Amino acid sequence: MTGDLGKAWDRVTDPAKLDIIATTQAKDNERCRLEVSRSFISDTLTVPSKEMCDYAVQASLGDDVYHEPNTAALEAHMARLFGKEAALFVPSGTMSNQLAMRTHLKQPPYSVLCDHRAHVYACEAGGVAFHSGAQVIPVIPSNRHHLTLDDIQKFIVLDEDIHFALTQVIELENTLHGSIFPQDEIIRISEFARKRGIKMHLDGARIWHVAVETGTPLDVLCEPFDSISACFSKGLGAPVGSCLMGSKEFIARARWFRKTFGGGMRQTGFFAASVAYALTHNFPKLAAVHQLTRRLERGLLELGVEITGSVETCMVFYNPSPIGTNYTEIAERAEQLPSPLLLGGSRLVVHIQTSEQAIDDFLNVLRSLAEEKKAAGFVRPAGKVDDGSYKDIYVRRK
Ligand SMILES: Cc1ncc(COP(=O)(O)O)c(C=O)c1O
Repeated sequence: MTGDLGKAWDRVTDPAKLDIIATTQAKDNERCRLEVSRSFISDTLTVPSKEMCDYAVQASLGDDVYHEPNTAALEAHMARLFGKEAALFVPSGTMSNQLAMRTHLKQPPYSVLCDHRAHVYACEAGGVAFHSGAQVIPVIPSNRHHLTLDDIQKFIVLDEDIHFALTQVIELENTLHGSIFPQDEIIRISEFARKRGIKMHLDGARIWHVAVETGTPLDVLCEPFDSISACFSKGLGAPVGSCLMGSKEFIARARWFRKTFGGGMRQTGFFAASVAYALTHNFPKLAAVHQLTRRLERGLLELGVEITGSVETCMVFYNPSPIGTNYTEIAERAEQLPSPLLLGGSRLVVHIQTSEQAIDDFLNVLRSLAEEKKAAGFVRPAGKVDDGSYKDIYVRRK
């Protein structure tokens, strides 16, 4: 554009110009990848590899509100893989769970029953009340591991009494805090629910780990559920996204709600292709991740640290007080290493980008602290020591 009009446009567009790629970006990203390889905080910190990005830039360029081609192919693949009729790609696990609730729940008053630690209840900002107007019934498992049918029968609302909100959805999470929900108990719960017309939703953000660890196909694990949310941006290492699976009718309605929630995205091909890469190349790595987590647990036990939540998949919970130290001291020491380690309290999460060196360095930090404490006269206390980690799990579980 020439002349005065061109200058006027420049005055408007020039202030908007932006170059956010630092001249040191390639190096910064390498540093970021190193940090991720030394972080035990969460598998949500995993970052796209260069190979994933190279694959993803070749993706189709359609508009996902109108069924973007690569995204539609991913959805069809996910539906097949999980043994359901249809699937919907969404930006996050939270949106996926919330859409499931909103789609299952039609006319209040009603309630959703779940484990008291379930993400949908504890970590989604009150979304079930906000979006669906439902009461949540959070239940503490009597075995402290997973809900049983007996636990559910004690708290579920089946009474057609106008004082109560009938339970219309049972929501289970697998894995939950890294632990595996026994499939036979899921089947018992689902048979009970189906007889009463109660919907079963699975928060399967990390169902991938269950499949690999138990050698059970995803469709078999998910058969007892009416809807499933599975995340790509955690253990699988994709940058963004989750899928919601269910019947054709359920997903068509959820697609509508996705639009209402503001989750109808446009050129999502790049993300769908990242997920395809993750399914092909990263999913098979989870078995090795579980082995590495077990190595970490063995190292902790050898040092005399208490294990408060044993490894079932990619997480281990520990209490360092039997060797005379605490989480803050460990985190400070780990941060001072030439190549720091990032820690988040009692929960240690291992992921596809965790390096073996990080595991060794972490165990060495604990070993040095244990030796120092012993030299200073610390004597291991008899019995269990409360490390306050119960609360900590909630704070750190993202
Ligand atoms: C079990 C579980 N479900 C759902 C979510 C929500 O996923 P997002 O962070 O993508 O919203 C998380 C997040 O970590 C999670 O751990």
